[in-house]
Amino acid sequence: RRPAGAPDRSLARPVTKVGIVGAGLMASQLAMLFVRRLEVPVVLADLDQERVDKGVAYVHDEIGKLEAKGRLSRDRANRYRGLVTGVVEKADAFADADFVIEAVFEEMSVKKSVFADVEKVVSPECVLATNTSSLSITEMAADLEHPERVVGFHFFNPVAVMPLVEIVRGGATDDATLATAFATGKALKKTTILVTDSPSFIVNRLLGRFMGEVGRIVDEGTPVPVVDGAFAGVAPMPPFVLLSLVGPAIALHNSETLHRAFPDRFHVSPALERVVAARKPGYYGPDGALDPEVEAMLEQP
Ligand code: 3HC
Repeated sequence: RRPAGAPDRSLARPVTKVGIVGAGLMASQLAMLFVRRLEVPVVLADLDQERVDKGVAYVHDEIGKLEAKGRLSRDRANRYRGLVTGVVEKADAFADADFVIEAVFEEMSVKKSVFADVEKVVSPECVLATNTSSLSITEMAADLEHPERVVGFHFFNPVAVMPLVEIVRGGATDDATLATAFATGKALKKTTILVTDSPSFIVNRLLGRFMGEVGRIVDEGTPVPVVDGAFAGVAPMPPFVLLSLVGPAIALHNSETLHRAFPDRFHVSPALERVVAARKPGYYGPDGALDPEVEAMLEQP
């Protein structure tokens, strides 16, 4: 059955090559998913060779894990490895892509400049998808020559297992772009829903409300492990484990976007701001214990 709000699927354009801007945590997981499910060439692009190599290595690693588990034949695994490449300079590698998705830093000006850059090298029909978790699709597309091919395509972490993709129609998005996004989501074996272009869409807006309250409980003095312990057996992941998986910086961005849009309902946790300012990647150390430096930050007034 066609998802609610999805245009006629006959309007969808084929996707034969995918460009991914960014090679970080989310982007490299996307590369793995696109290679595995679409079996088309996927090019990862980032600012320097080190990041690019790390992203490609992640994909090779994940392919190796599936092969070791017997879920991929050696032939297929080798074929998938051959489909993933990484570049610093997008111009040639992206020229014949028909679906480009960006998963770079969650900042409007950065995402706008990425799309302006990509637009110079791709065809006018190439879909420009954004994995933004909170920003306006309409605004992101506003200065482009072809804003009608921009669409929100928001995945959840870990990409391989989380079933949902939120598809966001911007003010200018046309039916062919939207139909291509839905068809691609289906080919990726994800559940697709059409969501309104509003701050943090649906899932992160709800999660933001929940995490805001969690932040308040900690800001009021309850230790993080106690809050997480309260969720053992209730949710698949305790809140601060989830926050570490998503990344504190992304979570802070989300709560700031929501606070700007709905100041009476969304709270920006000062403790989370301190954790992000100290560039902490998460709350727990490799031994599973709360990072003592993070603990000290949480206790500050
Ligand atoms: N990459 C690839 N596969 C992974 C993975 C990863 N990072 N993490 C887990 N998996 C796979 C495992 O390999 C395993 O597969 P298998 O059964 O085929 O071998 C399967 O997932 C289950 O893994 P586990 O048995 O190790 O773990 P759990 O049963 O504890 O489940 C979980 C793991 C599915 C991640 C679960 O803890 C969960 O649902 N957590 C909540 C995640 C969540 O809410 N994410 C949304 C965050 S919000 C977001 O991303 C939005 C963004 O914009 C901020």
